[in-house]
Amino acid sequence: MSDIRPLIAGNWKMNGSRAAMAEVSALAAAHPAPGCDVMLCPPAPLLPIMVEAASGTKIAVGAQDCHANVSGAHTGDTSATLIAELGATAVIVGHSERRADHGETDAAIAAKAAAAHQAGLIAIICIGETEAERDAGRALEVARSQLAGSLPAGATAANTVIAYEPVWAIGTGKVASVADIDEVHSALRTALADLMSAEDAAATRLLYGGSVKPGNAAEIFAVTDVNGALVGGASLKAADFGGIIAAA
Ligand code: G3P
Repeated sequence: MSDIRPLIAGNWKMNGSRAAMAEVSALAAAHPAPGCDVMLCPPAPLLPIMVEAASGTKIAVGAQDCHANVSGAHTGDTSATLIAELGATAVIVGHSERRADHGETDAAIAAKAAAAHQAGLIAIICIGETEAERDAGRALEVARSQLAGSLPAGATAANTVIAYEPVWAIGTGKVASVADIDEVHSALRTALADLMSAEDAAATRLLYGGSVKPGNAAEIFAVTDVNGALVGGASLKAADFGGIIAAA
């Protein structure tokens, strides 16, 4: 990892409950002054509950999705404005599960990220190739194309985080090799220079996601252009997530 302050973000996906706020307290107690930024992203109904549970701690709270519009007739959706009002500071957009389950396109994701920025939120933009795309030798092409298509105008290092999550590594226990992560992250860093200012391209945090665990975090974080992780399963328990925070 470089001298960019790392971000370790946990994506709870469709997991968690009121009772799970005990994990937030346990995490805060075990890591009162982490050497990295720490964030948890629960399902939308838990946002205000987690914001309260994390109040006074170093744990930031993020959402998992937002709508591109500020308000309106969009049943079941949540605006970035409301997410910010509830005390969250970030929102994940373009997770591969949303790209797959909800047909989200790069353009739709860029619009959501722009809405997040408008609301004062950090947009954590997810990209990553499928196994078939990697097998076809298209991993870099897909990552570059999703990055260019999903990054909105006005993205800066302060308001944007990129999460590279190879789809085949999510929840499977399969982790991309350090060499593969290095190759993609360094290509993303180079590609960012064409999409934003040189300063922002150099300072934008690039997270790796896909079966990150306490046992493999240190070697992943040793990669130059890895500036943290977006963690799914291992973010649900304070002990596991704490192990990853400690490795950062
Ligand atoms: O967004 C996090 C993610 O998709 C990785 O999930 O369970 O493989 O850590 P997991």
